[in-house]
Amino acid sequence: MTSQPPSLERPVTVADFQTAKSQGRKLVVVTAYDFPMARLCDQAGVDAILVGDSLGMVVQGYPDCLSVTLDQMLYHAGMVSRAVRRALVIADLPFMSYQASVRQALSSAGRMLKEARVHAVKLEGGQRSRKTIRRLVEIGIPVMGHVGLTPQSYHALGGYRVQRDENRLIEDALAVEEAGAFAVVLECVPAESARRLTARLRIPTIGIGAGAGCDGQVLVSHDLLGLHDGFKPRFVKAFADLRGEILRALSTYCREVREGTFPAPEHEFK
Ligand code: KIV
Repeated sequence: MTSQPPSLERPVTVADFQTAKSQGRKLVVVTAYDFPMARLCDQAGVDAILVGDSLGMVVQGYPDCLSVTLDQMLYHAGMVSRAVRRALVIADLPFMSYQASVRQALSSAGRMLKEARVHAVKLEGGQRSRKTIRRLVEIGIPVMGHVGLTPQSYHALGGYRVQRDENRLIEDALAVEEAGAFAVVLECVPAESARRLTARLRIPTIGIGAGAGCDGQVLVSHDLLGLHDGFKPRFVKAFADLRGEILRALSTYCREVREGTFPAPEHEFK
């Protein structure tokens, strides 16, 4: 059974994010990296699908997202876009595809919209990304910001840590809002800080490890479906145990092939 999506039958737009905030309706965002998972997320009624650079960890097997390239993101984002009928599709600009200059950011984001046909891009950083966000928005590319724990600065931050400097969080999020972003991800910040910030911002906050006071939530699909067997952060809830299900199915397949019970007569051509 699928959950009932919010009233919208038409495709979700960035303007709907603003409407959801003003109506107090929670926004649901989930990551996906390929056609079948994106199709399922869309059919379940999520508001947006994020092609995250968490791709590096959950699909490519790296310990962080730093090695993900723009071409890889374009490849995965294209698969997601082709699967989706209703949700807003947002793609991460990966590490070093936008930090070098505004010109580089325009080129990378432009390719995302033209080649992968996503609707919006996400990039990390508050005050330091203000100019880039402003320019992208000026030319008509919707941008989602990302502040708090910014995984592309993993080494500078000294690891995946809760970000407790509320003043910095506020300045970063206000910079993102002022630059014209349509929403901002708050990652790994204390719930009370996220709640106060959410009340202060006009744009919706999408939390991950930021408590229930945000305007919406985002989770990595592999985490929420119980597909990932690595470290499970405190903020992750596994809503299913697909890893267990898949292991059971694969073990049964191995056993039946070895015993000679699969294929059975009904699987044979006469
Ligand atoms: O890459 C990603 O999946 C993300 C989310 C965790 C917000 O940026």
